[in-house]
Parts: sequence; structure tokens; C-alpha cells
Amino acid sequence: MATIGDLTKYLGDPDGPLTAVIEIFPDMVFVVDQEERVLHINTLAARSLGGTPEQFIGRRQGTLFGHPWGERHSLFIQKVFRTGEIVVTETHQELHDTPLWIDARLVPLKAASGEVRAVVGIIRDVSARVQAQEALAEREAYLRAMLDNFPFLVWLKDVQGRFLAVNQAFARACGRERAGNVVGLTDFDVWPKELAQRYVDDDRSVMDTRKQKDVEEIVFAEGASRWFETFKTPVLDRRGNVLGTTGFARDITERQRLDAELRAQREQLRALAAHVESVREEERVRIAREIHDELGQALTCMSMDLGFLDKHLPRGNAEAAARVSALTTLVKETVQMVRRISSELRPSILDDLGLGAAMEWLGHDFATRTGIDCAVSVPSNVSVAAERGTVVFRMCQEALTNVARHAGATHVSIDLMIDADDRLVLDVSDNGRGITDEEVHRPDSLGLLGMRERAALLGGTAEVKGTPGQGTIVTVRVPFEGGKA
Ligand SMILES: Nc1ncnc2c1ncn2[C@@H]1O[C@H](COP(=O)(O)OP(=O)(O)O)[C@@H](O)[C@H]1O
Ligand SMILES: [Mg+2]
Repeated sequence: MATIGDLTKYLGDPDGPLTAVIEIFPDMVFVVDQEERVLHINTLAARSLGGTPEQFIGRRQGTLFGHPWGERHSLFIQKVFRTGEIVVTETHQELHDTPLWIDARLVPLKAASGEVRAVVGIIRDVSARVQAQEALAEREAYLRAMLDNFPFLVWLKDVQGRFLAVNQAFARACGRERAGNVVGLTDFDVWPKELAQRYVDDDRSVMDTRKQKDVEEIVFAEGASRWFETFKTPVLDRRGNVLGTTGFARDITERQRLDAELRAQREQLRALAAHVESVREEERVRIAREIHDELGQALTCMSMDLGFLDKHLPRGNAEAAARVSALTTLVKETVQMVRRISSELRPSILDDLGLGAAMEWLGHDFATRTGIDCAVSVPSNVSVAAERGTVVFRMCQEALTNVARHAGATHVSIDLMIDADDRLVLDVSDNGRGITDEEVHRPDSLGLLGMRERAALLGGTAEVKGTPGQGTIVTVRVPFEGGKA
């Protein structure tokens, strides 16, 4: 091994091996003695200082670097001579008006006795690295700001399940002051054991399957239970190796509560509508029966008494005879009127002969009253339970009322059938102007809404579709639950 004595000898030899090594070194290198005179300097360093090695050999380093570099180096060089230890500094400096980041290492060259004979300065321009680091830090700051402003919990874990990064919301959720405090920890450090085990299992499955996983889970923390929606994704490198997992979770407790409330309210409204509907139907039946029975009874009595009067009127009283006759006609008309009103309220045919017959009657009655041609087709051999039959009948009535009021149609078909899925299907189609989508979904289309609600109550659907200029079709589908007669 060469001693330091050799080294200083070699340094003076421009063709020596040490000179060659220092020459090909990618950093600026110079060697100074205790008086800080330059013993050696490589071309790279000399060129950076604006000259050639020969120009600088023998000069004091302070004169090369100028102010204030020279003074600083002088401090460090003297320190190395004093302590015999390496000094490493990273400083921001200007060289020929160019701001640079400089990594300077000052290394002692010692004699066998341990005495420092010379100091080697190795100076590296690390500006590129520092700038890259600064750019990276800046990017990180942006990302941080973004993540910390996220109203979700965000995290990134390595394959071992250690947190590489988390956002502020995550830190808060697990009771840590700062996101940085969570880095390096695992789920077991920040969550209750059971919860942590579940998360670790989830991560495993995400990494094994390499697929995103969405879970809605209930989390009990600090006595309160909260709902979280969590998304976990594996992180892969360019070659497809799993680097870890990333995920975010949002607290959906409030949303869940509102959803449940809304559902409950809807159900209540449905129940209320069903109740109102059945009360209305009962009322109709009662009124129809009373009109029919009581009024009908009274009119029958009147008619009989008028017959009696007609026979027993004293002869020759033409005026009285005419009045009795007019009264008889009026009573007959009133009987018709009572029948019509009561069957409009609740066709007895619905109770007596069932849905099919009632729809045929409805179609006939509709055609007579409106002058719109009406074809009815019903299966002859089905019997629908009374309550279900009434609901379908009322929907048909509503659809026909709409045809009369809005369609401007000349023809309407009513089709009742049982489909392949054993559902009772009612189609009411007209050849009118055709309902628009906007009309179908208008919030004040309460007739249509009522139809949909009634169908839903029976576990079915009601659809309304229009084609401009060609007509409208209402399709009701409900589970049949009847029998074939
Ligand atoms: N057969 C039809 N042809 C054309 N337009 C219709 C038809 N049925 C309903 N509409 C349109 O849809 C709207 C909503 O109907 P509906 O809910 O029954 O309310 P309403 O009959 O009280 O107006 C009607 O106002 C009408 O504009
Ligand atoms: Mg209507």
C-alpha cells in the first residue's frame, strides 16, 4: 500500500496514476497543503474556475474561488487539518454569477504518523438533484393539499400493510394529530384489533385478486356506529408487481339515515294511499247499494201508486190525467238515472259476474257515452279475486277517462290477458295524439301516478307510452293470483 508520502510525490507527477484517476473523476477535485496552496487540480475543476490546471497550481485556494467561497473553504480546510476528520457540506453558492448547489467533501490525506499532510476537496454540482427534489417537494405539496382537502379518508399502504401516506381526514379518524404520525404504522397500531384484522384481510384479497373492492361496512368507533363506503385498489408497478394498496372511505352514515327515512316515508304514503283507496271503494259500494235499494224502493212504490192513481182518476179530468202520465214518465226516467248513477259508482256486474264482464260493460258504456269506438277483449275463462279485480277495473276506468279527456282518439282497445309469467296484463291503447314523455313524468300527472301506485301495491307495474300522432298505450302488469274457471 502506498503511504501518504508516496501520494504527495505522485501528486506532483503529471504522468502518475493518481493524476490519471483524478482526471477522469466526474467531480471537481483539488488538493491543498496546510498553507492552502494548490498542489493539484483536475481539468474539470480548473475549467469550472475559468482556466487550466497549470494556471492554478501553486496558487492559494482562496484566490481561486474568490469571495466568499474562499473564506468558507478556508474555514473547513483548517478544520480538517485540525481534527483529521472529513467535512461534508451542502451549500447554495454562486460561481461566476451562476447559482449552484454544491456538495463539498474535504478529505484529509494523512501521513503514517497520523499527521494531516494535505486536504483533498471533492466538489460536486448537485443543482440538478436539488432542483429535482424541490420540484418533487412542490408536487407533493400540491398533492398533500388536495388529499387533505378531500372529505374522504385516503391512504396508501405497502405490501406489508404499513401506511406510506394518509391524509388529514384519515389521521383525525384514527385519533392522530397529524397525517405524518401515521406513516410507518399498520392497521393494528391505529384501529381496534377486530377492525384491523378485517382491513388486513381485505387488503390481502385485493392484492391476491388484483381487483378493486367496494365494501359498505359499519364501523364501531368510540361507542358510535358509523357507516362507511370503502374502495380499495391494488397498486401495481409497470411490470405488474403488487406494490401495495390504496383506498378511500367516505362516511355515509347520514346518507344511510336519510335513505332509510325516505324509504319509510314512501312506505307510509303507500299504505295511506292504499287505505284511502279501499275506504273510497267501500264507500262507493255502500252509496251505490243505498241509492239502488232505498231510492229504488221508493221509486217502485211511487210507480205503483201512480198506476193506481191512473186507474182510479175520476173520468173527464184531462189535466189530472196528463199530470199523472207525466209523473209516471218522470219516475221511469228517475229509475234509469238511479241505475246509471249506482252502476257508475260501483257496477254490480263487477261483484256479480267478475272483472271480464265488468270490462265489457265498461267498454260498451264508454262507447255509448263518448261516441269513441271501443273494442274489448277479455279471456273468457279467468276469475280474478274481487279486490284485485276492483283495482284493475279502476285503472281501466282511469285510462278510459284520459282517452276521453286528452287523446282526441276515434278508437280505443281494451285487452285483458294472462301472460307467460302468469301475470294479469291490461292494455288500453288509443289512436289519439299520443302522450309525451314530459306529460308522463310531470309531477302533477296524479292520475298516472295513482295508476303506478295501485299497480305497485299489487306487486306490479303500470307503464304509459305515447307515439306522437299515433296514440297512447297504458300497460298494467300485476301478479295474477287468480284461477282459471
Ligand atoms: N291517452 C292519452 N293521450 C294523450 N295524452 C294523455 C293521455 N292520458 C294522459 N295524457 C296526458 O297526461 C296528463 C296526465 O294525465 P293524468 O295523470 O291522468 O292527469 P289528468 O287526467 O288529471 O290531467 C294529461 O293531462 C294529459 O296531458
Ligand atoms: Mg286522468
